[in-house]
Amino acid sequence: MKITQDSIEQNIGLLIIMTLIVISIGGLVQIVPLFFMHSTTEPVDGLEPYSALQVIGRDVYVREGCYLCHSQMIRPFRAETERYGHYSLAGEFVYDHPFQWGSKRTGPDLHRVGGRYSDDWHRVHMNNPRDVVPESIMPGYPWLETTKVDDSLIQKKMEVLRTLGLPYTDKQIESAQKDVEGKTELDALIAYLQGLGTAVKTRR
Ligand code: HEC
Repeated sequence: MKITQDSIEQNIGLLIIMTLIVISIGGLVQIVPLFFMHSTTEPVDGLEPYSALQVIGRDVYVREGCYLCHSQMIRPFRAETERYGHYSLAGEFVYDHPFQWGSKRTGPDLHRVGGRYSDDWHRVHMNNPRDVVPESIMPGYPWLETTKVDDSLIQKKMEVLRTLGLPYTDKQIESAQKDVEGKTELDALIAYLQGLGTAVKTRR
């Protein structure tokens, strides 16, 4: 049988096979280059894995649903880089499991909030945002200040994160519980926020 456009279109089996071949080639062309593109899978220079306290702070961030109002993804547009600093790079997120990119911005993007305010500012703001930003519609989280961190699983969490590629040393994991001793959930959350986006120097 001669394969022509007509014969393919009139033979459903042949049409399916030909379609699959074409889609597979298209797929490979898109997927294979990603295996060789290291800028998306390797940490940017200066990126540190989260400390024990930051790991707990990040879990508080997820538990309290901060991502429902805050993204962590600065897009490469002038309006965003002027406001937030350098746009987000893939290599800044390789230690994030899972990502906190978010897609809703009721509040500002937080990817480069690290170092923008003092710890004390965050303390007041997290307790009652209106004490520092009168028009704020962000809810207060006063219980974080009075709740001690739950350190029962921190070593296990860091071990799991290590299997996912975070370069923790045995010593860091061993001392995790001691490192967070006596800290509150607010301390942990602030430690996490203050580290956000700081690996890449920004103009701000
Ligand atoms: C209902 C939506 C909402 C939720 C939920 C929310 N925020 Fe906000 N957040 C805002 C808004 C609106 C602002 C801007 C006004 C202000 O600074 O309070 C803001 C501002 C901030 C800022 C200051 C950012 C800047 O660049 O000025 C930080 C830090 C912050 N939020 C952290 C958090 C954290 C951490 C959580 C979770 C514990 C959280 N937010 C939950 C709405 C929200």
